[in-house]
Amino acid sequence: MSRLLVTGGAGFIGSNFVHYVLANTDNTVTVLDKLTYAGNLASLEGLPADRFRFVRGDVADAPLVDELFAEHDTVVHYAAESHNDNSLANPRPFLDTNLIGTYTLLEAARTHDIRFHHISTDEVYGDLELDDPSKFTEQTPYNPSSPYSSTKAGSDLLVRAWVRSFGVKATISNCSNNYGPYQHVEKFIPRQITNVLRGERPKLYGRGENVRDWIHANDHSSAVLTILEKGRIGETYLIGADGEKNNKEVVELILTILGRSADDYDHVVDRPGHDLRYAIDSTRLRTELGWQPEFSDFEAGLADTIAWYRDNEGWWAPQKDATEAKYAAQGQ
Ligand SMILES: NC(=O)c1ccc[n+]([C@@H]2O[C@H](COP(=O)([O-])OP(=O)(O)OC[C@H]3O[C@@H](n4cnc5c(N)ncnc54)[C@H](O)[C@@H]3O)[C@@H](O)[C@H]2O)c1
Repeated sequence: MSRLLVTGGAGFIGSNFVHYVLANTDNTVTVLDKLTYAGNLASLEGLPADRFRFVRGDVADAPLVDELFAEHDTVVHYAAESHNDNSLANPRPFLDTNLIGTYTLLEAARTHDIRFHHISTDEVYGDLELDDPSKFTEQTPYNPSSPYSSTKAGSDLLVRAWVRSFGVKATISNCSNNYGPYQHVEKFIPRQITNVLRGERPKLYGRGENVRDWIHANDHSSAVLTILEKGRIGETYLIGADGEKNNKEVVELILTILGRSADDYDHVVDRPGHDLRYAIDSTRLRTELGWQPEFSDFEAGLADTIAWYRDNEGWWAPQKDATEAKYAAQGQ
């Protein structure tokens, strides 16, 4: 691996991976990103010009993808429509990017015989009951709930089929919920942090009992790099850092860290079909590939993330009003 093509590298997790790879390896990186509302070139500032290139384009643009695959030896595919609420309001872009986009990349991977890593989510497994002690493993059957998670599940199955039918050299990772700097303010943690920073009350869906298994984006990036270096072709690896918290606990922590009263928030109408609980068993990644997360203290990672949003209002302020207007129109 030396010439990496990273799709969706101007988004939250993709940009974290680009920074991580350029800081920790000698590889060169090209980002292919459409710059939808979720992409932000400001997240890619400060990278070494001799090892980094940005190309604006669509992963479903077959001629462009073909041209770029010819110049690279490894592809990491982050590009996606990624927000559940948007998928309920307008599913079509999710089919175009997550399914047709992934199909387009797989066809190019097949033609160019290129190493391909597909980034996916634990949401493909559906949800667990709140009182169920089990966790998702690589053997858990797929049972997606939303248009977002069903298109991600479909894209995973396309990757598996292209490995089996055409010998594409691919791996897949399904990661739990990420937090950290550079996440769009439409997402749960940055939305609540920026509400509090603006002196407003955080908004909690329903009773806030839904549990997510939080992982810092840096740990997701180190896991993906580990899979690229040591993963077995055709395998799926679950990525998680044992960070289970319910949404109410997260909001209360944000308020407390920012010096406000822990109960200073509003309840808003719950998301339809809102998954109850996600939990990842990442034993395979840890035992077979020797990966370990660095951010084991969620509260400390959250405090760092809050500090980043406090210090970088110029990055998130332009997105904030439009995002809140969209939520307000949905009664959230
Ligand atoms: N955020 C999480 O907690 C999480 C957890 C597990 C897996 N994932 C997966 O990680 C990946 C990245 O998630 P994220 O949170 O960084 O998303 P994001 O929405 O922040 O970023 C997505 C990026 O993809 C780009 N993009 C969208 N459509 C495109 C297209 N057709 N062609 C090229 N670029 C396009 C956007 O411009 C944006 O830069 C997704 O595949 C997502 O399913 C996310």
